[in-house]
Amino acid sequence: NMIDLPVIDEQWIQILSKICRQITDRSKPRPRDIENRQQILNQLEKQFQKDYPDCNLYAFGSFYNGFGFSQSDLDVCLVFKDEREQNSDEVIRIMQRILRAMKSSSTFDEVQPVLQAKVPIIRTRHRQWNIAIDISLHNMLAIENTRLLKKYTEIDTRVSELGYMIKYLAKFCSIGDASRGTLSSYAYIIMLIHFLQQIQPPVLPVLQQLNDPTKKTSMYKKCSKWNVYFYEDLPKINDIWKGENKLLTGALWVEFLRFYTEQFNYEEHIVTIRQIEPLLKHEKGWLRQTIAIEDPFELSHNLAGGLSPRNWIMIRRVLIRSREQFGVKPENIDISNPDMSN
Ligand code: CTP
Ligand code: MG
Repeated sequence: NMIDLPVIDEQWIQILSKICRQITDRSKPRPRDIENRQQILNQLEKQFQKDYPDCNLYAFGSFYNGFGFSQSDLDVCLVFKDEREQNSDEVIRIMQRILRAMKSSSTFDEVQPVLQAKVPIIRTRHRQWNIAIDISLHNMLAIENTRLLKKYTEIDTRVSELGYMIKYLAKFCSIGDASRGTLSSYAYIIMLIHFLQQIQPPVLPVLQQLNDPTKKTSMYKKCSKWNVYFYEDLPKINDIWKGENKLLTGALWVEFLRFYTEQFNYEEHIVTIRQIEPLLKHEKGWLRQTIAIEDPFELSHNLAGGLSPRNWIMIRRVLIRSREQFGVKPENIDISNPDMSN
């Protein structure tokens, strides 16, 4: 269902770009939020090392991938130097021991195991700072995809601004919670990166397909049976990748909404960020009538696997309506509003 909208007003695009910047600036974590999380991380690591001297605690998720909100949760994962946690009985034993230790600590509240998640986690909350914490075990792929997303935000500042816009929209319209049958914020960010790779001219390269021809580096790096290679030499990215797309963030935001309402072929294609070539649904047997989104490393994982057709209709409605609303300059907007003028 194509919608015919008038050509977008240049002045509206500029206002929209300012809105993108302001939403980003207001959502971003403050230095204080970062310090608090770092302190929790250190505190938890010390506590776990009492029971397991050979463990380390790693943080991942939106606080470290460039798309964090000041109130986002803290996602951490416990990693053992030897890989003994592979066995699932051992995982349960470790989780139970952590659970006991956490429950007896006065720093953390509402400690509970969440076993129906994709990876078992212990969910808790820092009492004083009111920060939600998810603790998982040996979640190495999440550490890698956090680094990948972060690298994309470092290539171009428009990436994180657009990420804040889509996460903000998803939260505002209640379409951003995988545990309630919609999509995770991680999935929306993958959709965003896919769009930024596919738009002509592209804003982003495909880091998993990029290689430095002067170096004989292998494009393979293994992590629990998956290839987690991506090009990460940021100073050199500017040599081998010329981003020629100069659209303002506001224009890209409207194009993003247009892409997922008018252009993307949901019937046949899968959203992917690991290759520039189209990825077909029938190749992977992902034939459900909703969007399909491939995890960049764990290629058997469809990030939209838990999305019901009904919720997919709801998400599409939000995208179509946003496309209509953001695509034209509102009648009564006051551009002399001082808040809009910087
Ligand atoms: N993750 C994943 N696969 C999923 C969902 C999440 O690998 N299907 C990983 C990603 O690294 C993600 C992290 O788990 O960044 C944390 O997920 P979550 O807390 O749900 O999202 P965030 O990206 O942290 O965003 P926010 O908490 O701000 O909503
Ligand atoms: Mg998080």
